[in-house]
Amino acid sequence: MSLIITGSPGVGKHTIAKSLAKALDYEIFDINKIALESKLYEKTNETNDVDIIKLKKILKKKISKKSIIVGHLAPYALTKSQVSKAIILRKSPYKLSQIYKKRKYSKKKIAENLASEILGIITYDTIKKFGKNKSFQIDTSSKSISKVTKTITDILNGKSKKELIDWLSVVTEKKDLQTFFSY
Ligand SMILES: Nc1ncnc2c1ncn2[C@@H]1O[C@H](COP(=O)(O)OP(=O)(O)OP(=O)(O)O)[C@@H](O)[C@H]1O
Ligand SMILES: [Mg+2]
Repeated sequence: MSLIITGSPGVGKHTIAKSLAKALDYEIFDINKIALESKLYEKTNETNDVDIIKLKKILKKKISKKSIIVGHLAPYALTKSQVSKAIILRKSPYKLSQIYKKRKYSKKKIAENLASEILGIITYDTIKKFGKNKSFQIDTSSKSISKVTKTITDILNGKSKKELIDWLSVVTEKKDLQTFFSY
């Protein structure tokens, strides 16, 4: 059974996966890369639709016990029995918005991804798919790469502490709802 690292774009999935793969001697499988290489993307302007059925079949063949599967498509491309733990990396929408601006995402893409992170869409889908017990959220906003890596190895060793992350409350308290949801 393999480990999943998921979360919104820019939360640090690939950075953490690399660090963790090195620490554990695991192999990384990048779902996006596999989908691209296997030509499973149907590109329509800004949205990318993936052939999930084909993706599921390909992943089933590729993954092993010591796999780290990276990507926001993870909850849709894997079954519960294939996964031992699902790590959901989260990042404050304030920090995430800076990363998106640096990446030169369009205003629409920024607004959509921030709204999704604030509402916790990927978190919701991950917990729904893999269950509460297997799902762990980590706020990476002010943690170093090594700290996040250590937190994950602790979780794998059963020394798990559950973080509760609620950006909607944070944004509401700061009276920034309008800012994030006015697109
Ligand atoms: N724990 C961390 N502490 C500080 N900065 C981090 C941390 N993890 C990642 N970063 C930085 O955050 C940025 C985004 O990281 P990364 O590209 O790994 O995200 P990603 O989730 O893989 O994004 P995408 O979904 O677009 O592939 C990078 O600039 C990276 O250096
Ligand atoms: Mg990445």
